[in-house]
Parts: sequence; structure tokens; C-alpha cells
Amino acid sequence: MAGRGHGSARALLASALLSLLLSPARSYGGQNHGDWENPTPMPPLPPREDAARVARFVTHVSDWGALATISALRAVRGQPFADVLSLSDGPRGAGSGVPYFFLSPLQLSVRNLEENPHASLTMSLAQTDFCKKNVFDPQSPLCAHIMLSGTLTKVNETEMDFAKHSLFIRHPEMKTWPSSHNWFFAKLNITNIWVMDYFGGPKIVTPEEYYNVTIQRQAQRQILRHLQYW
Ligand SMILES: *[C@@H]1O[C@H](CO)[C@@H](O)[C@H](O)[C@H]1NC(C)=O
Ligand SMILES: *[C@@H]1O[C@H](CO)[C@@H](O)[C@H](O)[C@H]1NC(C)=O
Ligand SMILES: *[C@@H]1O[C@H](CO)[C@@H](O)[C@H](O)[C@H]1NC(C)=O
Repeated sequence: MAGRGHGSARALLASALLSLLLSPARSYGGQNHGDWENPTPMPPLPPREDAARVARFVTHVSDWGALATISALRAVRGQPFADVLSLSDGPRGAGSGVPYFFLSPLQLSVRNLEENPHASLTMSLAQTDFCKKNVFDPQSPLCAHIMLSGTLTKVNETEMDFAKHSLFIRHPEMKTWPSSHNWFFAKLNITNIWVMDYFGGPKIVTPEEYYNVTIQRQAQRQILRHLQYW
């Protein structure tokens, strides 16, 4: 049985740990575009059997992805067409799971999307140094990667501040992109999710399962559970 003094020390430690979890942006800095190693190491990969959590992790650590659209270009009309696009699902440590984009009507992908908003987004841990460090080939499922399908939609007024903050904190250069290009904020409205994180084929995750993952609350619970057993 923990005494009163022991209990309050525990509560203090718990609140210190929680405040660390709740304000991760400070420790991540948010300015080192595409580089989790500097100044803070990338958080550890969630358990591979928790595919929804792995998917949220891959989305969150990704600064870019390959977005496949159906081409509207005359030479390849109706054919698949992929381009690299910068994205963000939120400030470091506070991901929403929603991939946000900063797009211009001048981009080929956007011209495609104007005709057909369906798109497929691929993100891979190959863009971090996780796979190189562990000597996982990008095509190996051990180098976790995910495919998200859905439609690209413009972000509404309410969501725009979050989209803008999420993108600009991780891609500071975007602030300087020429306004004459008519940039706008968009997101992928996810309908299907495939997770490649282990042998045996892709795992299917529903958008409900994906958005249900609460990374920080889960981590908080783990810490509190740990403290209870002290
Ligand atoms: C804007 O989009 C968000 C997220 O999809 C939604 O929750 C909200 O109701 C929308 N707001 C308006 C005014 O349409
Ligand atoms: C997102 O996709 C679903 C399923 O196709 C659709 O019902 C919904 O209207 C879409 N939402 C937006 C904002 O486009
Ligand atoms: C959402 O998460 C809760 C708590 O982890 C879980 O009990 C529930 O089954 C989950 N729902 C879905 C749709 O994944």
C-alpha cells in the first residue's frame, strides 16, 4: 500500500511525464524538415501487429508521399500518374492522421484531380533512416509502408488553420512559395487503407480504426499503468 507521501510523489511524477507528452512540439522543434534525427530521435515503431497504429505512425513521421492520380494529360489520359507531394498530418507529436497538402492548380496532379478526385497515397518509412539503419530494403514489408485511397478535397475554413499550421511548421519553405500560384489547402478523404509492415501480405485497416488511434492518450495510459505498479 502506498502511503500519502509516496502517492503524491507519484502524482507529481505522473503530471511531469504527462506534461512532457502533452507538449511534445517543444522537444521536437518542428523546424527540421524531413529529419527526425536532428535534434530528437524518431519515436519507436508501434507493435507491428497493431496495423492501425503502424499506419498512423507512418503517416505522422512522413513529410512527403507519392500521390497517384488518373492522368488528364492527353499523352497518358486515363492512365495512373504519381508525383511526390509534401504533406503533414500535424505538428510533430500531435498528428491527426489526416494527410494535408498545399497545392497549386499549376501542378499536374491537381489538373488530374480536377477531372477525377480519386487518388492513392503511398508513404514509407524509407523516407526516415529507420529502414537504412535496420538494413530493410524499401520493398521489404519490414520497411513499413502504407497505401491510402480516397478522394482529394479542399479543406474548409474551419479546418484551414490546422492544415496551415501542420504544413508550415514542417515545411517552413512553403510560406515563401509564390502567391501567384494560387496555393490552397487540401486533404485526402481516406476510404481504404493497406498496411505493409510484416510478411504475409497487406493488412486492411478501416478509416474508423485508423482515426480511433489516440497515440498520445495511449502513451499516457501506458505511463499511468506503469506508475500504478510501482
Ligand atoms: C469543415 O470540415 C471539418 C472536417 O471535415 C468538419 O468537421 C466541419 O464540420 C466542417 N465545417 C464546415 C463549416 O463545413
Ligand atoms: C469522403 O468520402 C466519403 C466516402 O466516399 C464520402 O461519403 C464523403 O462525402 C467524403 N467527404 C468529403 C468531405 O468529400
Ligand atoms: C476504438 O478504440 C477503443 C479503445 O482502444 C476500442 O475499444 C474500440 O474497439 C476501437 N474501435 C474501433 C472501431 O477500432
